Amino acid sequence: MGTIQGKHQDTYIEELSKFEGQTVTLKGWVSKTRSSGKIKFLNLRDGTGICQCIFFKGECEETSFDNFSELTQETAMSVTGTVRKEPRSPGGYELGAQTYKVYSKTSEYPISPKEHGVDFLLNNRHLWLRSKKQHAILRIRAEVVAAVRDFFDGRGFTLTDAPILTPNACEGTSTLFETQYFDDKAYLSQSGQLYMEATAMAFRKAYCFGPTFRAEKSKTRRHLIEFWMVEPEVAFADLADNMELAEEFVGYVVQRVLKNKQAELKTLERDLSKLENIKGPFPKIHYREACDIILKENKDFVIGDDFGGTDETIISSHFDKPVFVHRYPAKIKAFYMKEDPENKEDSLSCDLLATEGYGELIGGGQREESVDVLIQKIKEHDLNEEDFSWYLDLRRYGSVPHAGFGMGIERCVAWICGIAHVRETIPFPRLYGRLKP
Ligand code: 4AD
Ligand code: MG
Repeated sequence: MGTIQGKHQDTYIEELSKFEGQTVTLKGWVSKTRSSGKIKFLNLRDGTGICQCIFFKGECEETSFDNFSELTQETAMSVTGTVRKEPRSPGGYELGAQTYKVYSKTSEYPISPKEHGVDFLLNNRHLWLRSKKQHAILRIRAEVVAAVRDFFDGRGFTLTDAPILTPNACEGTSTLFETQYFDDKAYLSQSGQLYMEATAMAFRKAYCFGPTFRAEKSKTRRHLIEFWMVEPEVAFADLADNMELAEEFVGYVVQRVLKNKQAELKTLERDLSKLENIKGPFPKIHYREACDIILKENKDFVIGDDFGGTDETIISSHFDKPVFVHRYPAKIKAFYMKEDPENKEDSLSCDLLATEGYGELIGGGQREESVDVLIQKIKEHDLNEEDFSWYLDLRRYGSVPHAGFGMGIERCVAWICGIAHVRETIPFPRLYGRLKP
């Protein structure tokens, strides 16, 4: 960065500390302005930070001082001036401005500093992204994505991305988006897992990381229609290995954000003490232990049922680290889950529930490796055996115990950021009832 433009450095606000005392040119957009007699203040936003630029009558170019009122919110411009240390400026440095240049004028920018309703902001998501809080959330998302890749790449996993158009239902048939695939029907992928089971047999440790889709007609703060999921799969691994991998992974991601995204977490006013101890090992409880906890606070809960959002919150309120719940009843889990040899009614599944009521962060488990049992499960789940013939081959040719999990990136980002709703954790959210922008 810092290419030479004319005789001044064209630089970024986040690296201003390197240029103290030097003359630089900043490029960006007007965040806000203020005038007070002989001084005019401009807060310039350049995507890497906000810098206060000060135009002092007599010290800056005269036309820049006189025309200052043309600098309305979101005007695109450059400012040239000298970098000074100033603790009161947002990034700790300010610009003693000499001159500016306007790239394009803006009038009546729709998002003003006043409060707006969420619907209005979502309709203007393409502009809302410029706001400070949204900017911080998406920078944290980018760090989470980078941490996810570094974690698996650094541990011998091979990235083997799964297709988005698929002939199979992985997570039940009720949330499938159907589309035409020439003369056939196809579905948008709910999960890359089945394909990762194939690549795990080729690479031993494999993962995919891409968009997944669920046609869920529900409006909750944890559900998106389109979300990004990372899904590792490991050959010769069991349920215990899987939970160990997941806790190491989650600890790594949280600590990486804490280390590299301090400014953004501060913008979001995140209570860091809630994140500092997020390191494995995490507590691990059996589904029935979890039921006992829930029943003390929710008398209506029925043992054998899946947990609702409030049930998950009850469980997580008893722990200051994420908690694994394992061995859910087989009948409430997907067809591919291995049955528990100790109790065939149970599955070797595990969900990781985040702290502070953020709910299910990870879902996964050990996969059924017997071709006969798997065919039986496919029938019990009313799925078409023919659709899974390729998947059954994985059990016919060199089947081994294997396990994996999936983590939705948006749930992870919402939790780390401490924000209420997943809709702000993805640049352009797809929600039930919303496809624009
Ligand atoms: O529990 P799920 O449905 O598990 C699977 O899809 C497995 N096939 C994954 C695997 O074992 N490879 O989804 C996994 C995670 C959830 O724990 C949650 O974080 C996220 O994906 N998730 C969603 N995130 C946002 N919106 C939704 N509608 C989500 N559904 C699941
Ligand atoms: Mg799940």
